Amino acid sequence: MGTKPNIPDDGLPIVQGNPPQTRRRTRQDKVYYRVCISVILGIAAFNLLGAARHAWNVQGNGSNAVQIPLNAAAILDTCRSLNFKPGPPPDFNERKVSDRFVQGTGPVLIKNATIWTGRVEGLEEITGDLLLESGIIKAVGHADPSALANLDNLVTVDADGAWVTPGIVDLHSHIGVTSSPYFSAANDGNSPKGPILPWLRVLDALNTHNDAYRLSVAGGVTTALVLPGSANAIAGQAIVVKYRPSTSRSPIGLIVENPYSTNNTEYAPEKGLRWKHMKHACGENPNSVYHNTRMDTVWAFRQAYNKARDVKNAQDAYCSKARAGQWAGLGEFPTDYQWDPLVDVLRGRVKVHIHCYETVDLDDLVRITNEFHFPIAAFHHALETYLVPDTLKAAYGGTPAAALFATIARTKRETWRGSEFAPKILADNGIEVIIKSDHPVLNSRYLMFEAQQAHYYGLPRNLALASVTTVPVRTLGLEHRVGYIKVGYDADIVLWDSHPLALGATPQQVWIDGIPQLETPTLAPVKKSKVLQKPPHPPNFGKEAEAALKYEGLPPLIPARSTSGVVVFTNFNSVYTREGGTVRGVSSTGNDSVFVVQQGKVVCRGLRFQCADYTTRTDTISINLHAGSISPGLVSFGSPLGLEEIANEDSTNDGYVHDSIFGEVPTVLGIAPVVRAVDGLQFSTRNALVVYRSGVTTAITAPQITSGILAGLSVAFSTGAEHKLKEGALVQDIVALHVSIHHSGVPSISTQIGALRNLLLGNGHHGHITVWADKVVKGDIPLVIDVSSADAMASLIQLKYEVEEKTGHALKVTFTHASEAAIVAPEIAKANIGVIVTPSRPFPDSWEDRRILPGPPLTSKNIISTLLSHNITVGVGVVSTWQARNTRFDIAWAALDARGGISPAEALALASVNIETLLGVKRNPVLADLVATDGGDLLGFEGKVVAVISPSRGVVDIL
Ligand SMILES: *[C@@H]1O[C@H](CO)[C@@H](O)[C@H](O)[C@H]1NC(C)=O
Ligand SMILES: *[C@@H]1O[C@H](CO)[C@@H](O)[C@H](O)[C@H]1NC(C)=O
Ligand SMILES: *[C@@H]1O[C@H](CO)[C@@H](O)[C@H](O)[C@H]1NC(C)=O
Ligand SMILES: *[C@@H]1O[C@H](CO)[C@@H](O)[C@H](O)[C@H]1NC(C)=O
Repeated sequence: MGTKPNIPDDGLPIVQGNPPQTRRRTRQDKVYYRVCISVILGIAAFNLLGAARHAWNVQGNGSNAVQIPLNAAAILDTCRSLNFKPGPPPDFNERKVSDRFVQGTGPVLIKNATIWTGRVEGLEEITGDLLLESGIIKAVGHADPSALANLDNLVTVDADGAWVTPGIVDLHSHIGVTSSPYFSAANDGNSPKGPILPWLRVLDALNTHNDAYRLSVAGGVTTALVLPGSANAIAGQAIVVKYRPSTSRSPIGLIVENPYSTNNTEYAPEKGLRWKHMKHACGENPNSVYHNTRMDTVWAFRQAYNKARDVKNAQDAYCSKARAGQWAGLGEFPTDYQWDPLVDVLRGRVKVHIHCYETVDLDDLVRITNEFHFPIAAFHHALETYLVPDTLKAAYGGTPAAALFATIARTKRETWRGSEFAPKILADNGIEVIIKSDHPVLNSRYLMFEAQQAHYYGLPRNLALASVTTVPVRTLGLEHRVGYIKVGYDADIVLWDSHPLALGATPQQVWIDGIPQLETPTLAPVKKSKVLQKPPHPPNFGKEAEAALKYEGLPPLIPARSTSGVVVFTNFNSVYTREGGTVRGVSSTGNDSVFVVQQGKVVCRGLRFQCADYTTRTDTISINLHAGSISPGLVSFGSPLGLEEIANEDSTNDGYVHDSIFGEVPTVLGIAPVVRAVDGLQFSTRNALVVYRSGVTTAITAPQITSGILAGLSVAFSTGAEHKLKEGALVQDIVALHVSIHHSGVPSISTQIGALRNLLLGNGHHGHITVWADKVVKGDIPLVIDVSSADAMASLIQLKYEVEEKTGHALKVTFTHASEAAIVAPEIAKANIGVIVTPSRPFPDSWEDRRILPGPPLTSKNIISTLLSHNITVGVGVVSTWQARNTRFDIAWAALDARGGISPAEALALASVNIETLLGVKRNPVLADLVATDGGDLLGFEGKVVAVISPSRGVVDIL
């Protein structure tokens, strides 16, 4: 159900590097040092210039006399510095101690690890030891025993063969500038002051107190580019931070390579020139905020770059004259405090990161780079890049990387053509692929899961791992120190409990600058099964990827074939079926087992000869599942699936219901009308079909509300049906009564619960709601309460007892969302309330969600395993429609997190029978759908859904 919305040269050689601090200076260093000191940003030198600007030397005699400013040498240095390129000093990786080393950090030897180094195109894997010391990786593969003997307080960690990778690098995060939990007073993502604001800096808003740092580290994320939001065309300067709490507790301490002077925000000349990062955005976001068209936004870019080019040209002309000794009338070096950040872009000292989705926008920005001559580091989000690789290749100064989501799409018009096959297609075209979070859009704790999905949909293993490590660091200009496991690199390391591309891969320990980040190793997960130590072998999606291209991102999703005839499934390893309110699993009894379906109904199961009546027929379709599986079709709950096509486009959506309890409703609706989702249902939406192809064959959806408490009556429907009037399209037209109790200020939580009390106790006359409140009180229909706060849940538990006592009936109550449910788990259990955990891995989005049980490696149990241990009936839900396709992975993850505490059958129940029980779907289990997967089961990255068996629709859909 709808949650309440929260809430964005001049011939000089180019010298790279920092001034060496320890070794003797060479001639090259002197050149470098002078260039550096002459002030890279042109700011400090300007003070110098300004102070000396009236002092002159007279050279020459008679009529040839020329006046030369006393600071001419400094001016010439400034001019030389203009083409200085950012980068580390040549001897950076000879350092023995990291500049980020924290006193007291002891050496660590990780023994017997399987090390993915990131080198050799991501293909190098080494078995051996890893030595971390002084904040740096000191040995990879083999640590010299004599060197070890000299180390005091060496801590040895036995990896027992487990996988080790570099710390994950997230190219796109808003951590610290948007708050978690969300506070309206800490919403620093975007300035409203105009579309062009290159002078703003994320550093000035980087809050160090954010729950997400710790959570993301627990997912292996160690470094991230923190960007301003996308509401401005040019939103300002981004910054690269590490997620380790800084010893100074200050934002500056988080910066990977702090370029600033102490106590100052000017670039410190002695620190050399670091890469700067600039955020741009095009398309819907900047347009909507400033009521612009794409034409306006592009003009705003061109105007800004034209201004910057004027400043740059004036500087270059000035320097040409200075170098030619034409000092007369030269005046001051032209500079512009506001526009210097863009001048820097034109001088190639800035990594430009552009939020851009559609072909038209990508093309606009590529043309701008060729007009103004600057390169783009990466297009972010970049959903249509896979359709136009040649456009990217036409960008000035090199092909931008594409920084993508794995499967977020269809959330707005500009993401309509998004494809899960984009990473593979881009890689096939030689374009660098990055997978990023856009945290908190995606909880960056699970960034590796995104890379896993990209791998599942065809991105090769080496590139999937590279997409969150080595590729982003190249895009950030930090490839000299992070993103790889190499001697001399920062000691940012993740020790995993399984192969990092295996579903549910969880860090056992994470080191940043050699400092272990997980404080309670007893809670860290132990190494998982042998099977999970190997990378998954994803299915072949080659045809699907081709279709995505052929149909410009909108391939047909309707099943290729739908048959009521006899279908014989063979070669499966397991069959899971509904048995009453549970799911039961049966392993295949042998290679000769068959599973026969006719008119969508199971007609025979057993050995081939036992089903000879069917298997000997000539008109059957035989489907070899290649060690696959048959399982119940999954059920999705929580998103507006079926009520929306594109979330942000009203014209594609059912819309929102009136707040009929606290708000005014049109008189034609009567008093307290109860809306039915079934009346607004849309079928064959792309989301529904994508979800169907992912094994989710039923969705239960409630009307959507933005305010008030009463949503209305939910509907259960088939995600594969063509329209409502088709046989089997509706599973149940009225399912449950949905209300929502959340902190929204007005009305208060107490008012919301008070209103619910009056409705349930029949105090007063309440119009249409009375009929449904009566059914709830009699236990005929579940009352489903969307609630996050443990305190609100406690009040609702009391209310349930109160109503039951006064009416003598037992109520059926289900909590959904339920982020903080673990706190009141025994009380929920005692009150016989069920819970649909939504999303299945909660995040402290808002204040009322902050007390989550984060699960491994931070706590031994997660919310699902905790609720189950109290014998609470648990389902898992999703918040957004695009998430519904991942239901199979969410339940598998819950089982993996429970370390054997949840069987595969119980995992399948979490998103099938349990949800139906909790919401009151009454259907004959025999009429429920089954899903056939090829190559593996629904609960992993090897199975592919190839057919849906639908008894109620009388067909087998062959996908
Ligand atoms: C003065 O000018 C003459 C001829 O222009 C030149 O030869 C001489 O070197 C100059 N002297 C100085 C001190 O610049
Ligand atoms: C390394 O770990 C693997 C996997 O557990 C184990 O089989 C092997 O014996 C270990 N090797 C050493 C040298 O400990
Ligand atoms: C920075 O400020 C601190 C605190 O006032 C002071 O102790 C320190 O000397 C300052 N550092 C510099 C380089 O000015
Ligand atoms: C849950 O149910 C099992 C089996 O019925 C029982 O043994 C166990 O004590 C119950 N646990 C709780 C916390 O009630």
